[in-house]
Amino acid sequence: MKQTLVSVVLLTFVLILGCGPTGDPSKSADAKDTEPLPLSAGKSIFSTHCVVCHGTDGGLGLNEAGDLRESEMTLEQRKQIIRDGKGTMIAYRRILDDREIDAVARYTKELQREKEEDE
Ligand code: HEC
Repeated sequence: MKQTLVSVVLLTFVLILGCGPTGDPSKSADAKDTEPLPLSAGKSIFSTHCVVCHGTDGGLGLNEAGDLRESEMTLEQRKQIIRDGKGTMIAYRRILDDREIDAVARYTKELQREKEEDE
């Protein structure tokens, strides 16, 4: 009798643990939605939306866009400009979601780093 109780308790534990991380698939999908996108995603967003004015290396500076590689803006300031636009640059808040804006902003910082490495 005691043995049965022990195995019931054990079985319960196994079930709880077994259901742990994969128990609720909708939950783990949500967690993934808040993870930052990889820099490679930022790069492809940049080549789709930004290259026309900023050039592949960020240095084209069409319509007085300025050289992104020379920009001293923080990540937050970049995100704000991408979200709200500035001058002839359009606002991207309806085109890109927050994670995409974050990824492309991080990528513009990376352009700067690449130039520093060249010098
Ligand atoms: C229609 C042309 C155009 C497109 C497309 C464009 N930009 Fe711009 N961008 C500009 C112009 C012009 C400025 C300068 C605005 C000003 O200072 O008045 C600018 C400024 C910026 C700045 C601020 C740089 C600084 O230090 O002043 C960032 C960051 C930036 N753009 C990122 C992006 C990103 C990322 C994208 C793509 C999602 C993008 N831009 C698409 C024209 C463009």
